[in-house]
Amino acid sequence: MFGNPGCKPKKYELDIHGLSSVNYGKEIKEKEFFLNPDIVFFNHGSYGTVPRRVHDLQMKYMQEREEHPDLWFRITAKHYMDRARQEVADFVGADVESLLLVSNATTAINIIVKSFPFKSGDAILDTSLTYGAVKNLCADFTSRLRPDVNRIILELDFPIESADDIILKYEEILEQNPEIRMVILDHITSPTSIVMPVERLVDICHKHGAVVVIDGAHAIGQIPLNMQTIGADVYISNLHKWCFAPRGVAFMSFDNKHAGWIHPSNTSWQLGLSLDKQFFDQGTRDHTPYICARHALQFYMAIGGMDKIVDYTRQLADTTLEIFSSELGLEAIQIPELLQAPNMRLVKLPSFPKFPCAEENTWSLQQAMFGGTKVFGLLVFISGAFYFRFSVQIYNDLEEIRTVVKVVQDFIAKNV
Ligand SMILES: Cc1ncc(COP(=O)(O)O)c(C=O)c1O
Repeated sequence: MFGNPGCKPKKYELDIHGLSSVNYGKEIKEKEFFLNPDIVFFNHGSYGTVPRRVHDLQMKYMQEREEHPDLWFRITAKHYMDRARQEVADFVGADVESLLLVSNATTAINIIVKSFPFKSGDAILDTSLTYGAVKNLCADFTSRLRPDVNRIILELDFPIESADDIILKYEEILEQNPEIRMVILDHITSPTSIVMPVERLVDICHKHGAVVVIDGAHAIGQIPLNMQTIGADVYISNLHKWCFAPRGVAFMSFDNKHAGWIHPSNTSWQLGLSLDKQFFDQGTRDHTPYICARHALQFYMAIGGMDKIVDYTRQLADTTLEIFSSELGLEAIQIPELLQAPNMRLVKLPSFPKFPCAEENTWSLQQAMFGGTKVFGLLVFISGAFYFRFSVQIYNDLEEIRTVVKVVQDFIAKNV
């Protein structure tokens, strides 16, 4: 198979030596990440960051590619990709035959919405808490590409009292709108960080004849995932957020009965062949993030796996909230504890006369609050108020939290 002398695919494994005993916080930050030690990175959720060991391995694959580019693109890259796909599938309890690797959640959801065989008069359902880019997709799809398909938006307002609250709202809207053919469901809403009761919602949507596409961009690595138990028609999640993979790699797992209508964004050389071949060949591009997904999972497991990681991050996130509440009087957004995502939290900020409460002022407030400080934190605008959305990772610690709180406190003292 590998006919060129001296050019066999190599066998790379992540060096996990010392990872099981490294302490979270400052030690892991310094030893295992490239993060600037002077910076408090308090927003892992948006873009994540890649551990040194995973990055080093990615460089090795890149070097191998440059040693013999043709061999890489024609043979070896696919061989490595298949191995990565298998390991990602095993990690989420999916069948590898119906799991594809794509560059990110945005691409995957675009592919699904734009491939689906909607009939005229069908509707697509998203919610007021759907991720902004996906809201844009629904709006653009139903106005420009398929004006014969309607968009229905379910309003999910705060405070959200319970999972039953959410279920009831879905039941009502599905009952009232039997034309809903596709439901886009965020598994962990962003930025609001609610873990939606997806298993129950999938059942309800199916009872109403709707196909369920779960946008689990934030889910893998943050909450346990099993594709068989969730039972969605399509499930999408980013490995470059909470699983330490190089950007960009996401997986898209689907019920095999849908294989016939799923098409990659680019029609290319493998047209008519299996979906995994078509998705592999999307033109010339960098396959190394996909290939390294399995090494990122090796890193994730070697530093303790979900139980250990989330035990630490959840406590740290809760401690941060407690300090904001007890010392600054800032309150968290109201989410039932059972629906709270482990690593992400939101605190409501007071009003600032110089920054009128409007979405378009969010970035300037963010710049004013964090620009020129050691902290990067994300501000968001929800239901008429500014919130500080922070997301914590194993490299954060209490000392960093103190720095973050001080920055917010000083800003409030000068600007309220
Ligand atoms: C719910 C949700 N969907 C989609 C995305 C988009 O992810 P990406 O930019 O990797 O495509 C995000 C990113 O934060 C998200 O939170």
